[in-house]
Amino acid sequence: MPILFSFYLSWVLFCSLASPNSVNLPLKAPSLGNWLVTEGWMEPNMFYGIKNNDLLDGTQGQLISTKLKKYLTAENGSETILMANHNSSSASSWQTFRLWRINETFYNFRLSNKQFIGLENQGNKLVAVSATEKFPEPFQITRKNGEPHRVRFRASNGYFLQAKSEMQVTADYKGPSTWEENDPSVFNMTIVSTMHGEYQITNGYGPDKAAKFMRDHWKSYITEEDFKFMSQNGLNAVRIPVGWWIAYDPKPPKPFVGGSLQALDNAFRWAQKYGMKVIVDLHALRVSQNGSPHSGSRDGFQEWSDSDIQETVAIIDFLASRYADHPSLVAIELMNEPKAPDLKLDSLKRYYKAGYDTVRKYSSSAYVILSNRLGGEWSELLSFASNLSRVVIDVHFYNLFWDNFNKMSVQQNIDYIYRQRSSDLRNVTTPDGPLSFVGEWCCEWEAEGASKRDYQRFAEAQLDVYGRATFGWAYWAYKCHLNHWSLRWMIENNYIKL
Ligand SMILES: *[C@@H]1O[C@H](CO)[C@@H](O)[C@H](O)[C@H]1NC(C)=O
Ligand SMILES: *[C@@H]1O[C@H](CO)[C@@H](O)[C@H](O)[C@H]1NC(C)=O
Ligand SMILES: *[C@@H]1O[C@H](CO)[C@@H](O)[C@H](O)[C@H]1NC(C)=O
Ligand SMILES: *[C@@H]1O[C@H](CO)[C@@H](O)[C@H](O)[C@H]1NC(C)=O
Ligand SMILES: *[C@@H]1O[C@H](CO)[C@@H](O)[C@H](O)[C@H]1NC(C)=O
Ligand SMILES: *[C@@H]1O[C@H](CO)[C@@H](O)[C@H](O)[C@H]1NC(C)=O
Repeated sequence: MPILFSFYLSWVLFCSLASPNSVNLPLKAPSLGNWLVTEGWMEPNMFYGIKNNDLLDGTQGQLISTKLKKYLTAENGSETILMANHNSSSASSWQTFRLWRINETFYNFRLSNKQFIGLENQGNKLVAVSATEKFPEPFQITRKNGEPHRVRFRASNGYFLQAKSEMQVTADYKGPSTWEENDPSVFNMTIVSTMHGEYQITNGYGPDKAAKFMRDHWKSYITEEDFKFMSQNGLNAVRIPVGWWIAYDPKPPKPFVGGSLQALDNAFRWAQKYGMKVIVDLHALRVSQNGSPHSGSRDGFQEWSDSDIQETVAIIDFLASRYADHPSLVAIELMNEPKAPDLKLDSLKRYYKAGYDTVRKYSSSAYVILSNRLGGEWSELLSFASNLSRVVIDVHFYNLFWDNFNKMSVQQNIDYIYRQRSSDLRNVTTPDGPLSFVGEWCCEWEAEGASKRDYQRFAEAQLDVYGRATFGWAYWAYKCHLNHWSLRWMIENNYIKL
């Protein structure tokens, strides 16, 4: 009897460990990007309800004094008085400021050296300060009616910023303004770039509205019906990007809001019901591994480093312990798109090893996905990964984001897939090493005047080549309002046949 009992127990154990083994590789997976980690640029209407929605976190702007016709600059960074002495808008990064939004009218300004604008001790001179030494100065913005790029800023001492002379920018202008050009407290603001990710959405709506906004999004954007659609259309897995704050659900650090964990639980339940596998992809890391809005970045700086390894491993521990025994878990991706050269290969390997060991504490069968560095060498993780078991190298292929694609014709794009991409993929596909995974691709491109048939041929070429990846591929993304970015739209409109 005891023997039978122990046999029975280990049989159950064996089954639950073994079930992810039964996965049929290669995987055909859409990515549920824009559901759990929101990339607002896919859904601009998500931002319509935010006041001053052109002044979100990470917006980069330049300020010209309307009186002096000179740009504000923090020329030499640290300890230098802010000046209004630059002629040209393109000149230097020192005259571009990044906003940190406090609320719809109050902002901090971050400089290109990562310092902030502050006020000299008790005085009214503007200086560059480090956030660790001193609290950055909150400036209240006032915009001219009907001309929102005409702005004034009030400092915490109650006075407005003014450009008295090229060498003297101070916070000591008293009183209102008639918005005349020669008023030294009036500036013209040019927005150079903006960011639209989950940080911007949640901080943009603010604590009162963000929670409801995100809850409504999670409830309506991806539903059980989507899993049914995917499983009926030849897709056998789904890649789900998650943000680091999911580990702190239901009360994540601000501005993020609780609820993403519940959404991920729902996805696992639906995946199981429709016989699909789940790849959990840690897509957004605290202080950002690549500076992109989809990494949860506040201002575009990429600051993830060795000192963040411990917390990031704890997040992997949270995810692995929660889902290791779920029959639908097939893989955990330790970090999406780390970016070279700022993210050092040594740091990445240290983290990957620790993250791998953490997943293995809970599962011997789940695959561990290692994303290649953007801008790194194709083969840079191969020998490291060959020491580990059931690991996968993830590479992302877009005929976008690189000037050379702008000039390519339809045929050149398709040739590029067959020639260059298949060679790139071969470079990470080894007989005994890790498996290969094209973890992101899409059918959007720069080719002008492409017909429906051209899109179909582009899709066929990519399915043909990326189908050779030994682990599989994932399309970015399952659903977005931009047609060719949406796998569901492509399938429903007969652009893609799986
Ligand atoms: C900034 O640095 C340049 C070059 O080192 C120097 O010529 C200039 O005087 C500095 N400006 C200020 C305000 O310190
Ligand atoms: C800005 O323009 C003025 C007048 O055209 C010129 O004298 C000055 O040298 C210029 N300054 C810089 C930094 O280019
Ligand atoms: C916005 O933030 C500023 C600075 O922290 C604060 O003084 C002000 O009350 C806030 N306004 C609103 C509407 O929350
Ligand atoms: C002020 O900014 C607006 C918007 O960026 C721009 O179109 C305009 O040319 C600027 N005017 C001046 C005088 O810099
Ligand atoms: C593989 O593991 C062995 C034993 O732990 C170690 O000595 C070796 O340096 C590792 N190789 C790589 C490429 O990481
Ligand atoms: C890719 O692999 C080929 C051999 O298959 C090699 O000649 C080439 O140098 C590799 N390229 C890169 C970028 O690793």
